[in-house]
Amino acid sequence: MGNRRPVDGARLARRAAFVLACAVPFAIPAGSPGDEPEPTPNYVRDVRPILQARCVTCHRKDRVGPFDLQTYDHAKKRARDLADVAEDRSMPPWKANGKFGPGLKHDPSLSEAEIATLRAWAEAGSPRGDGEADEAPTATAGGWTLGEPDVVLEMTESFTVPAGGPDLYRCFVIPSRLSRDVYVSAVEYLPGNRKAVHHVMAFLDLNGGGRERDKAEAGPGYTSYSGAGVPVDGDLGGYAAGNQVAHLPDGVGRLVPRGADVILQVHYHPTGKPEVDRTRLGLHLCRKPVEQSIHWANATNDKLQLPAGDANVEVKATWHVPVDVEALAATPHMHELGRDFRMTAVLPDGSTRDLLDIPRWDPSWQNTYYFKERITLPKGTKVHVVAHFDNSDHPRNPHHPPRLVTWGPSSTDEMLVGYIGVVKKGQDLTRSGEEDDLFQILARQYFRKVNRERFARR
Ligand code: HEC
Repeated sequence: MGNRRPVDGARLARRAAFVLACAVPFAIPAGSPGDEPEPTPNYVRDVRPILQARCVTCHRKDRVGPFDLQTYDHAKKRARDLADVAEDRSMPPWKANGKFGPGLKHDPSLSEAEIATLRAWAEAGSPRGDGEADEAPTATAGGWTLGEPDVVLEMTESFTVPAGGPDLYRCFVIPSRLSRDVYVSAVEYLPGNRKAVHHVMAFLDLNGGGRERDKAEAGPGYTSYSGAGVPVDGDLGGYAAGNQVAHLPDGVGRLVPRGADVILQVHYHPTGKPEVDRTRLGLHLCRKPVEQSIHWANATNDKLQLPAGDANVEVKATWHVPVDVEALAATPHMHELGRDFRMTAVLPDGSTRDLLDIPRWDPSWQNTYYFKERITLPKGTKVHVVAHFDNSDHPRNPHHPPRLVTWGPSSTDEMLVGYIGVVKKGQDLTRSGEEDDLFQILARQYFRKVNRERFARR
């Protein structure tokens, strides 16, 4: 905990604190550059390819990185810093333990050879090398990382975030106007104002509940701290600084039903001056036939109690798998007091499958981790999450002195949620009569649990 730096508001606004799902790290080209560094590495041949592959997704204009790393001059100015963060593995940010579980797609961690190249280049006085150093980086279509989406949905009007005051959780209803059900392979979010937009989540609403809330409140949208604040019919994941987008595997899609409204919940962090935002999201339709539909289940502990001053509180949560599924991905979620997070499955035959381990939780980097292989979890499997929280007096603790912290949506409360992205095993939606019913199965399971708990309290 000792090396944690305090974070100020402006930094926080750039950084993540909450994401539901969906966003995935970039596919990094296979075959890392610089596996056999030359005696004296230079920028053009050795360093630029590393920065292009691993760093400039964030370190360029209008992205979350605090400075640009796209030109020789920029990189040279910071050569030693680049080697330092590479060596201590704080950059590129990636919090999962690669040795635990099935292995993770899109792991951007630098190889030892790449780290050595950055160090040797800094030591040698950052030579430029011959050839074109600053060729224009591949353009992204209008800021979209995955290219122009098939459908772009935009907040219907701009929202002005006041200069100060508490964080705002504002929901905006965007009619999707889709005339048929579609499956999407990726959802990309483009915050209208990266300084003020802290995170975004999107929900699907088929019953007009969002529109009613919107009408009842003055100004654009309505306030809801807890998700969309109305019953929803699905979600479209979310955005937070640091998570990146990729397509789902072929054959897997995320359903957006015909006529659905998208409810965009935006968490705004006031920056000290009024900020205007008009966030967009882009849908990429599946190009291949969709056999399976991905949905997000979760292991949640909303009863957590973190006593003031306790530096290591263990909290557990379990999801009981209701039908045979295959797990594709996991998204851990905690707030500022999280220390570590581990997800494991215990199958009905008693065997154990490790899924995900985050040894040092960092609330700034909440990511969705995609497993290298699909993991079959038969009905009756228990997905266990074990996490630890630090409620002692440390810079990240929002309470000084510490006080009892319980479940809640605000960054001064805590949460423990292990989201898990699953498809129904054996589902083939290209077969006639096959139903996309996993969301309903998960929703029924959720409401049964809520009712049981309500009954138990009587
Ligand atoms: C996913 C986005 C992302 C990627 C990829 C990324 N960075 Fe960063 N980087 C950031 C952000 C955000 C910060 C600001 C950190 C903070 O506020 O704590 C940062 C900070 C830094 C810093 C300053 C460190 C400090 O302690 O203040 C250096 C140096 C750096 N990055 C280098 C790199 C290098 C080199 C790479 C590639 C090997 C890289 N980054 C990849 C987002 C990224």
